[in-house]
Amino acid sequence: MKKKNGRNTGRAWLGTVALVLVFSAELLPAAKLDVIKLNPPDLKRGLPFMETLAVRASAREFSAKELSLQDLSDLLWAADGMSRPAENKSTAPSAINAHDIRIYVFMKDGAYLYDSPKHELLPVLAGDHRQALMMARPPRPAAPSPGASAAGATPPAPPAAGAAPPPPPPSNPPVQIILVSDGDRFTRGDPERKFEWGALDAGIVSQNISLFCAATGLKTVPRAMMDKARIKDLLKLTDAQIIFLNHPVGYAK
Ligand SMILES: Cc1cc2nc3c(=O)[nH]c(=O)nc-3n(C[C@H](O)[C@H](O)[C@H](O)COP(=O)(O)O)c2cc1C
Repeated sequence: MKKKNGRNTGRAWLGTVALVLVFSAELLPAAKLDVIKLNPPDLKRGLPFMETLAVRASAREFSAKELSLQDLSDLLWAADGMSRPAENKSTAPSAINAHDIRIYVFMKDGAYLYDSPKHELLPVLAGDHRQALMMARPPRPAAPSPGASAAGATPPAPPAAGAAPPPPPPSNPPVQIILVSDGDRFTRGDPERKFEWGALDAGIVSQNISLFCAATGLKTVPRAMMDKARIKDLLKLTDAQIIFLNHPVGYAK
């Protein structure tokens, strides 16, 4: 029997360990993250309401500076925090008070899920996935019109003259929020109705985020553009959990 070379066996073993470490960092990982306890909301901060509306504007350029814990805490409470816990009611209304909107927060060290009753962030996935979520999918080519043969298929229509180009993806946001409606939270309604309610509820949470940012000098933009298949896979979402919007959030560049 051939004698094994000890050095090679050692190298192979080290290689296996390195591979396992790389893959487990990518795939397992919420174990490495801690729950983030958020601060109570500072109810006194921010511009007056009418001024807030006047300055709200989408922004796509961000400083890379991380959000302070207070800003992150207030942002999430404003988005959909429990404002009337005795009645199970929050800062955002939701259809049949279903609290269907799941707020995922992507930061440098990983992704978290906002637990509004506890006002804390629960670890979901370790690793920095923020830039991946910023990717805009290239526009799909137009579908051939019915009956068009392959050879004679109508080419995709060029963009209309003077049409605005799509906005660029945001630059390095320190925080990236994804709004997901969990259709299983609705105790009644057919799938179409649940989708509609989910979209409306996500829009309301989105506007809370935009108004909080406007009132406090933070920057954000609501974005429908994102790679939903990739996010669904990363977050292990069910088919009933629909991704609607994302919000990069950060300080002005
Ligand atoms: C439902 C919705 C989807 C949007 N999707 C995107 C997007 O994918 N990318 C983007 O850069 N902006 C997106 N926007 C932002 C709009 O482009 C922006 O709100 C609009 O140009 C008006 O500018 P304002 O927000 O500064 O008033 C979206 C806005 C809404 C309400």
